[in-house]
Amino acid sequence: MTTPTIELIHKHSSVRHYKPDPLPGETIETILAAGQRASTSSNLQMFSVVVTTDESKRARLMALCGNQRHIQQAPVFLAWCADLSRLQRVCDHQGYQIQAGYMENLLLASFDVALAMQNAGLAAESLGLGFCYIGAIRNNPREVIELFQLPRLVFPMCGMTLGWPARAPRLRPRLPLQAVLHWERYHPDDEEHLRTYDQAMIETGIYTGRQVSGGEHKSQLEYGWMEHSARRASKVHRPHLREALAEAGFEAR
Ligand SMILES: Cc1cc2nc3c(=O)[nH]c(=O)nc-3n(C[C@H](O)[C@H](O)[C@H](O)COP(=O)(O)O)c2cc1C
Repeated sequence: MTTPTIELIHKHSSVRHYKPDPLPGETIETILAAGQRASTSSNLQMFSVVVTTDESKRARLMALCGNQRHIQQAPVFLAWCADLSRLQRVCDHQGYQIQAGYMENLLLASFDVALAMQNAGLAAESLGLGFCYIGAIRNNPREVIELFQLPRLVFPMCGMTLGWPARAPRLRPRLPLQAVLHWERYHPDDEEHLRTYDQAMIETGIYTGRQVSGGEHKSQLEYGWMEHSARRASKVHRPHLREALAEAGFEAR
């Protein structure tokens, strides 16, 4: 069973090579309006998105986000932000005190951001455009906050490059459905599926020249999804985030 929407979803691939052609503002707004249509916790709409097409800002963002070249190459960069500042203004208008510093608020705002940006991404792909999420926007959140003049209670959760693909990106296989789908109860016995997937990923050649460091203690090594993911998952990533979030008002108590 399939539909044009399901087919579009299955064609998804992150785009890291872009043509320089600019995007009309109207196209960007069409995409973002589709993002806004996503479900949102209690309709609170706890996100904002800052768009930049400015070349010097994109150069600065590239430097702040681990020198990923597609950030400068793509004509558009979107900074998707958790935003409780709007609700604070609403509370002020209505004479209430916002309770922003709780884990639940951070989770809700994160869901809102994720759903909106995925909707926007699909809308972009339906127009033949490509995008790539940029989690590395959280490498230097304070500098990004300054660059975009984000007020308190607005935090850059994820970036997104957007533009016309310069070449067709490679499709990354996903885990077999059986590895993620659990009927009635959770089944942890997934080793066979993981190994099948590991082999499929090795065969794509995706990891050639893109190994994560570590594993020097291993004598023989087949570097596939399992080794790659284990190396990634056994490293600490962005330990500064708790403090940076708290500084922005997301204490997550
Ligand atoms: C939250 C999030 C952050 C990501 N951050 C980056 C990033 O900083 N740079 C990048 O090139 N890709 C980034 N990606 C893209 C993933 O690497 C990509 O989605 C994944 O490898 C699967 O590949 P595919 O999207 O082509 O299917 C990110 C994806 C997500 C969901």
